[in-house]
Amino acid sequence: MTSDCPTHRAGAETASAVVPHRPHPSSSPRHWRQWFALCAAAAVTALVAGCGGGGSAPVAQAPLDPALVAQGQQIFRYDTFGDETQWTDTLKMDQVISAAVDPMTALSVGLKVDSQALPAAVVQGIQNGTVDLKSPATTIALLKLNAVVGVQGQVQTINGKDVLTRVGITCALCHSTVDNSFAHGIGKRLDGWPNRDLNPGAIIALSPALTALQKAVYNSWGPGKYDPRYNQDGQNGPQVIPPAFGLAGVHSITTTGDGSDIAYWNRYVGVTQMGGHGTFVDPRIGTRGVSVTNGTDDLITAKLPALQAYQLSLAAPPPPAGSFDPAAAQRGKLVFNGGGKCATCHSGALFTDANFQLHLVGEVVSEPEAPGVPSWASRSATKMYRTAPLAGVWQHAPYFHNGSAPTLEAVVQTYNTRKALGLTSAEVADLTEYLKSL
Ligand code: HEC
Ligand code: HEC
Repeated sequence: MTSDCPTHRAGAETASAVVPHRPHPSSSPRHWRQWFALCAAAAVTALVAGCGGGGSAPVAQAPLDPALVAQGQQIFRYDTFGDETQWTDTLKMDQVISAAVDPMTALSVGLKVDSQALPAAVVQGIQNGTVDLKSPATTIALLKLNAVVGVQGQVQTINGKDVLTRVGITCALCHSTVDNSFAHGIGKRLDGWPNRDLNPGAIIALSPALTALQKAVYNSWGPGKYDPRYNQDGQNGPQVIPPAFGLAGVHSITTTGDGSDIAYWNRYVGVTQMGGHGTFVDPRIGTRGVSVTNGTDDLITAKLPALQAYQLSLAAPPPPAGSFDPAAAQRGKLVFNGGGKCATCHSGALFTDANFQLHLVGEVVSEPEAPGVPSWASRSATKMYRTAPLAGVWQHAPYFHNGSAPTLEAVVQTYNTRKALGLTSAEVADLTEYLKSL
């Protein structure tokens, strides 16, 4: 049932990473049992998602279980997996917030406020200026209302005063934004949309627990970027925060295709970056592999299926009306499939060959990295790159893993030069319009 589906072989490779206990020795019967159980699960997931059903041809996605999706939404938005251990006990972010992070400061580093969590009185108070947006106490009030996207605060009333006792983060911190319908940074949640205003490095650098050298690295990243390997391999090369939408049918996750399903990477980030309680092991990563266990309990494994289902339910957003020229886009499609040679890799309905193959660093126009920055692929599990799926690509400039192309036009120019395509400026313009239409 699974032998003709290459992603299942990739799944087998990554299975060790989702085994909650050390996978070695790999010949132990226990390990193989888990391996088969995981493989079978991966096979079922892949089958319902269309793998083996004609590859990158249009795939009919099996309907997701609505109850599982709803559960996943709660986890995506509000679950810290117990990562207060990292953000409170180690990094002391509760103290930082209480002392210095008023709402204006929070918004200035890209944190977002969920307007739907605000009671009418607070909305009115913000509008008429009686809610003080320059006081950290207001941030604590917002945390108490569960209104700061991706940040979970535990607030206790001590001697009549609200005190932030614990703070942790959720997936929504980086992978949700808001529609700014109330004010800039305040509005309805847009889950799966990368928060490209967020400056995670600048936020982490506020922690008193870090060395000057660490702070310098965190402060070097800038908005919309995060290095999810720095705290593992000590190297510095921040990545653009990607969308968590439009991934249904893509069985190759992260820009380097490290896992065959979303849950692989959710476990990686949940444990090694967020500091959630659980275990992540993958000996393939970088030169030394990664093996991290936080806590003595596992607050992640049981949540991964629902969390994955929620992300699979998030479709890429269609381009806004009037955001591209349809006639030019139509011409650009011909360039994409013809002289631009784009469809040789960005093939099929998902615009990617990721379910079949990855690409060597030498084939990819986004490397070499900027001077002094280590190759991102070299720090990954596969050491290669996945052809990026392109649905909704209009939404998330800058482009490529390292953000080296600021616009879609810059992407096309980069290909034209690096691959010596010889496209005319009219063809470049048309191809750009086509990308905007996806
Ligand atoms: C601090 C910011 C941050 C947090 C928190 C975070 N991520 Fe990410 N996420 C990233 C970055 C950066 C990448 C890019 C990694 C890569 O491609 O190598 C990424 C990659 C991903 C991808 C891969 C997308 C693709 O195209 O294959 C998914 C899916 C994802 N994250 C979901 C999640 C979920 C679910 C959580 C919570 C468990 C989470 N992330 C927490 C920053 C974050
Ligand atoms: C050899 C295979 C290959 C070919 C040919 C190719 N691409 Fe790509 N493309 C990739 C890979 C791999 C990535 C991911 C690179 C990265 O993340 O740095 C990518 C990334 C992109 C992105 C950025 C997506 C994002 O989310 O940031 C765009 C846009 C894109 N390609 C468009 C094109 C266009 C237009 C063409 C034709 C001119 C083309 N590609 C030709 C493999 C290819």
